[in-house]
Amino acid sequence: MGTGEVFDHCDRELQLAVWHGRLHILAQTDPEHVMHKTSIDLPLQTRDAMARLLNARLADTIDLSLQIKQAHWNVKGPNFIALHELFDRLHGEAEAYYDDIAERVTALGGTAYGTSKTVAENSTLPDYPANITAGLDHVKALAASYAALGKVVRADIETAAGAGDADTADLFTGLSRGLDKTLWFLEAHLQAKA
Ligand SMILES: [Fe+2]
Repeated sequence: MGTGEVFDHCDRELQLAVWHGRLHILAQTDPEHVMHKTSIDLPLQTRDAMARLLNARLADTIDLSLQIKQAHWNVKGPNFIALHELFDRLHGEAEAYYDDIAERVTALGGTAYGTSKTVAENSTLPDYPANITAGLDHVKALAASYAALGKVVRADIETAAGAGDADTADLFTGLSRGLDKTLWFLEAHLQAKA
């Protein structure tokens, strides 16, 4: 099947959906957003809504992975080696998060938007401070990003379940559990009583 045929199918499917007045979400369709035809047994409006939601979290998790590397490279102080190695491990986990998210988008017939420009435009994470060095400052900055992402992902679980996509809800549930655990790892550095 050539590319043109795929897009012809997409266009017809989208037009049909609009004609039937069923797909409120399509009113927000941007011209570059493409859904491919697939025989997966989920309605187009569900797949489209989930692809958008997953792409939002794709930007966030790629941004998170870059923030973690920023910490890995620049952390200094008496706990350098422990934090340097912890941050590298967290970076590996974040890579797995965004790869799973991107591949769920494409499994649904969507397009994964993961370029640096798209990520910079769409990430909802706090900006990472450029010039911090102390270990606890990096821990605090990363904890803020994990907490912000954890909050939106917890809401995404309900959104995906409500849309009838149990698999995307499950992906978000696993992600949420991982983010919560890492937030504990980070905050454990901050919670000791003097
Ligand atoms: Fe390294």
